[in-house]
Amino acid sequence: MSDMRFPARFVWGVATSAYQIEGATTQDGRGPSIWDTFAHTPGMTRNGDTGDVACEHYRRFREDVALIADLGVDAYRFSVAWPRVQPEGRGAWNEKGWDFYARLLDALERKSIAAHVTLYHWDLPQALEDFGGWRNRDTALRFADYAAEFARRFGPRVATIATHNEPWCTAILGHERGIFAPGMKDRAAAYLVSHHLLLSHGLAVKAMRAAGARAQLGIVLNQWPVYAAEPDSEADRRAARLADGTHNRWYMDPLFGRDYPADVLAWLGADAPQVAASDLETIAQPIDFLGINYYSRIICSTATPPVPAPNALGVTDIGWEIYPDGLTEHLVRIARDYTPPPIYITENGAADADRLEADGTRMRVRDKLRIDYYWRHLAALAKARAMGADVRGYFAWSLMDNFEWAEGYGKRFGLVHVDYETQRRTLKDSALWYRDFIAAQHLRADASLATCP
Ligand code: FCB
Repeated sequence: MSDMRFPARFVWGVATSAYQIEGATTQDGRGPSIWDTFAHTPGMTRNGDTGDVACEHYRRFREDVALIADLGVDAYRFSVAWPRVQPEGRGAWNEKGWDFYARLLDALERKSIAAHVTLYHWDLPQALEDFGGWRNRDTALRFADYAAEFARRFGPRVATIATHNEPWCTAILGHERGIFAPGMKDRAAAYLVSHHLLLSHGLAVKAMRAAGARAQLGIVLNQWPVYAAEPDSEADRRAARLADGTHNRWYMDPLFGRDYPADVLAWLGADAPQVAASDLETIAQPIDFLGINYYSRIICSTATPPVPAPNALGVTDIGWEIYPDGLTEHLVRIARDYTPPPIYITENGAADADRLEADGTRMRVRDKLRIDYYWRHLAALAKARAMGADVRGYFAWSLMDNFEWAEGYGKRFGLVHVDYETQRRTLKDSALWYRDFIAAQHLRADASLATCP
């Protein structure tokens, strides 16, 4: 722990998203979202789990902010539920919904915790889905209106505003693979959606700037470094290049002023979206930060049976390979290929098969795997910074166990354990470890500031 160096102003945080924790899906005028519809469709989530109750954060947010403060973090990343503040996705605002976020910001301000907000973490108002959702270009305009309204109301009170969280997941998991809301399986639709998401990002950034937003504006992408299983195999290398195209370059290239990647367009053929030249200009609005969510890597094998992944460090409880080197390698590559603005690692963390156990008079979760995962990824991050990647902050996913989308409540990513029967929160060993780690970093920062003239 002692030799990992991060600068004094480095932002340490924890992250969540609205649908995964809030619950109260029908309270105070919130409209339904596509995740309500999807989760209530039989067979779509494990055990038929839904976000109806989740962590009851809507009601318990003060207790949760106290927990966040206990961890000693500088910042909290959360998302706004669009259907809570604009139930139809157009037209009237729901003041009770906005009030909730105003109260949350009050509570964070009282503890001096900076707010890092995401406007869209997958919970599209169902009313917009009924008009074609993200397949309909008009949704991008509606999103920009919502973003501008958020900026007008709360712009001065938040540190950063990200338009989207992981547009790849919305587009591909939601519209090509059908495993996330709205559950479609149509490649052309998925790529049209990805284009509209990126367009909506550009429109929203413009609209928020026009509304006078002083917060840093950006977007959050999930990035997966891609490797050929057999580096000597031409076919594996080609497959890896294409997977890098569909996962990473398809989003990064237009955001940083290039066309959509030619190899992916060729692969899509007639399924490629029609793109107006002015759309590309809109998408490439200058941004103040880039958020990267990193969990694992992709390995492409064209052999039958596929060449198995080496998996030296094993996999987490959700089956994702633990590969911290990928974080270093990917950050260095991005810095080289795109010269991006400052980066925040907006998510990183591990699912573990946690067990709550009694330890004397207190309850405890000995989540060694998660501590090891964080430790190794923070070391990988420190290394990337030393190699020139301009990373300014790190958010652990997640503050607490929550509704893990199609996996329901079965997969636990939290630093804090949630007993869903009682809603009791218990700090896991990883939470205590993260708290100590941050405290040591802060102490070192104070010491180095003290030596300044
Ligand atoms: C990311 C999502 C986040 C959470 C983690 C495990 O893809 O942004 O909501 O589900 O994965």
